[in-house]
Amino acid sequence: MLLLALESSCDETAAAVVADGRVIRSNIVSSQIAVHAEYGGVVPEIASRQHLEAVSTVVTQALEGAGVTPADLKGIAVTQGPGLAGALLVGLSAAKGLAFGCGIPLIGVNHIEGHLLAVMLERPVEFPFLALAVSGGHSHLYRVDGVGRYRTLGQTVDDAAGEAFDKVAKLLGLPYPGGVAIDRLAAQGDPGAIRFPRPLLNDGSYNFSFSGLKTAVLTHVKKHPESAEAGIHDLAASFQWAVCDVLTQKTAAALVETGLNRLVVAGGVACNSALRLSMQKMCDEKGVELYIPTPRLCADNAAMIAVPGDFYLSAGISSGLDLDALPVWPLDRLAARLTEGM
Ligand code: KG4
Ligand code: ZN
Repeated sequence: MLLLALESSCDETAAAVVADGRVIRSNIVSSQIAVHAEYGGVVPEIASRQHLEAVSTVVTQALEGAGVTPADLKGIAVTQGPGLAGALLVGLSAAKGLAFGCGIPLIGVNHIEGHLLAVMLERPVEFPFLALAVSGGHSHLYRVDGVGRYRTLGQTVDDAAGEAFDKVAKLLGLPYPGGVAIDRLAAQGDPGAIRFPRPLLNDGSYNFSFSGLKTAVLTHVKKHPESAEAGIHDLAASFQWAVCDVLTQKTAAALVETGLNRLVVAGGVACNSALRLSMQKMCDEKGVELYIPTPRLCADNAAMIAVPGDFYLSAGISSGLDLDALPVWPLDRLAARLTEGM
């Protein structure tokens, strides 16, 4: 089944053509990063306008890149949430127009579900598995028993991991998005140079907290201003390691308690080089099979939206043209879709 997928939940306007939910025929991403960078973060109103300007072009590029016409498509998958309401509405409106015009079914997809299943575009993963979603808005651990069958084991109680990277980068005067900048600086620093706190590490839950860590970095920089200048590599490496250490240790504990022997790490923060290494080391020690997509599939893209989209449409589950944006949409609620068929 050949699907067109659209993604517009935050600051990337993306379209992809994917066959059978597995084979990428095209995957176009138009990034707004340069536009938002001067504000130090995503400005929702500007994001919506940028999506409007880019959406037709990325759809055309995706179809041309795949060498197909709208008549070849069997369905359309579109990010329905979570995300910025105005941004989501642009993708939804475009998808509805195309689905109506082509007379093909439409399915609204959860963005985080797309992240968790993106790795299947590269290699198959058997269920059940443990999944860590780490992005600008999420730091969640899930037990995944099948497509649509997610149970939240833990989540951040304040900032998400990506948000922490972005906020710490901002306070250090680094460009948006902060994760990339910190990752780059940290490569030349000593992760053991400064001992930052490990929030909630031993609280017995699978929850995370990163806002105190951001405050600890701020306090350190106020006391030692040189650490944000000549010492910035060590500072970046030490902060980055504090985040990766907590994520890795909590994930390791969840693997032990659930007895699961497959782990998927997904979302923009899964691009982080230290996190990829520490997860690999932990999984090697535990005999767990690790699945992390290549960086272009960790970051926001539309091909990942086609994976669950293909599953639902193949199961006869589709959305109506009255489909609305869901800025907040916990994954646990998806189970109802399997029984109610919408
Ligand atoms: O999944 P994503 O592209 O968008 C959301 O759904 O939020 O994730 C974006 C987040 C941003 O916070 C960005 O700073 C972070 O992913 N990120 C990274 C790296 N690349 C992107 N964080 C740490 N290290 C990286 N290399
Ligand atoms: Zn994302």
